[in-house]
Amino acid sequence: MDKFIIEGGSVLTGTIPISGSKNAALPLMAASLLLDGTTKLTNIPDLVDIRTFCNVLRVTGAKVTYSAEEQSLLIDPENIYYPESPYDLVRKMRASFYMLGALLGRMGEAKVSLPGGCAWGPRPVDLHIEGLKALGASIELDKGYVLASRPAEGLKGGSFNLSPSSVGATVNLILASVLGSNTCVISNAAKEPDVVQLCYFLKQAGADIQGEGSSQITVKGVKQLNAVQFRNASDRIETGTFMILAAMHPLNKIKLTNADPEELGHFLSWFHKTGASTKIDKDIIEIIPPKIINAVSVATEVYPGFPTDLQAQWATLMTLANGESVVTDSIYSDRFSYVPELGRLGASVKVKNNSAIIKGPNKMAGTSIMSTDLRASVSLVMAAMFATGISQVLRVYHLDRGYERLEDKLNGVGASIRRVTEQHESE
Ligand code: EPZ
Repeated sequence: MDKFIIEGGSVLTGTIPISGSKNAALPLMAASLLLDGTTKLTNIPDLVDIRTFCNVLRVTGAKVTYSAEEQSLLIDPENIYYPESPYDLVRKMRASFYMLGALLGRMGEAKVSLPGGCAWGPRPVDLHIEGLKALGASIELDKGYVLASRPAEGLKGGSFNLSPSSVGATVNLILASVLGSNTCVISNAAKEPDVVQLCYFLKQAGADIQGEGSSQITVKGVKQLNAVQFRNASDRIETGTFMILAAMHPLNKIKLTNADPEELGHFLSWFHKTGASTKIDKDIIEIIPPKIINAVSVATEVYPGFPTDLQAQWATLMTLANGESVVTDSIYSDRFSYVPELGRLGASVKVKNNSAIIKGPNKMAGTSIMSTDLRASVSLVMAAMFATGISQVLRVYHLDRGYERLEDKLNGVGASIRRVTEQHESE
């Protein structure tokens, strides 16, 4: 397993390029199975989750070619014949569950493994299943798999209310209903840019979708969808992560390029409350860090509210802030596995119910800390970068799932991070 050896205390200066969005790319990849011909997706980051999903698509018989240097994907579903997604792949990445909607939509049947556990809290898929049933799919569960089918002419149509609003369930219901001859209405639909982009992609291919970005999405089934060439969005969570990092030291001078500030939602105003400011010019975001970081409490919400995927990174920033702050996750229960690790660095953070309570500022000292999931790991790397002395961040394979070339990007602006591959994990 790989670990990072990080020497703290660097001041960061320079430009960091933002990669294509992982969470926006995955729905596009699943949706490409619904299009006739070869679809080309560009600005696709070279990440473990992307590579895993390429393999999930290949299992069906689709032809998938990824070019790391071009950051592009070619997906040709012409010879698709096997409507299944096996446990040993789905367990590696929950978003493989999008195959349920894609295979049901394209082939009229699907056998997809239920996603495995997750590093934090229960992440049920009841809304995906109940929604598909409400729209006319037949669903049964068998030995950890979802077996689904629909009438030859497509889902019978109808409407379904998502409670709570769910990105994944919105994606699956759209994928299952774009081909056919009936109308499906999704209410309390997710408004995340990842869903809006999926709808733009499908409409470019000939789908009849209204209401993307609002809480009601209406999908009228069409007979056929045709392959397109489509550029994937920038990663708004990577953008938010590096904005927070840039604000962690008053002498940092960081610019982000290939960013999409429009997709940051309310995060930008929360960010400014810390005393940080930004200069935005098209896809460039320059961050001016505050001399003293204000303690700012946040509660995560669905888009355009504060994103749960930036909750851990925010808590790390608050360990350096002047005063007490509370970071509440209203989306997931117990997504706070990074808190004890911040404590090992010397930060005063505790978890109470679904909130992290942080007393700052803290002088943190480097030590060994353990990554537990994608966003927790990056928050620990950020904390180690501003702790004194040397830290070891273990199990950085979590990072490789969602941050492209993280140590190269950060060392390029003055960090001191060394990746070490270990045969056996040290304690
Ligand atoms: C997507 O996950 C993202 N993943 C997550 O990012 C992100 O944290 C999440 O949306 C929320 O923004 C991808 O896009 C691949 P949800 P998803 O369904 O779709 C409950 C990362 O770090 N729920 O919107 O699985 C659920 O428990 C990942 O990149 C049900 O109750 O999230 C949660 O409380 C982590 N039943 C809430 O809805 C269901 O059937 C939101 O989950 C489905 C969800």
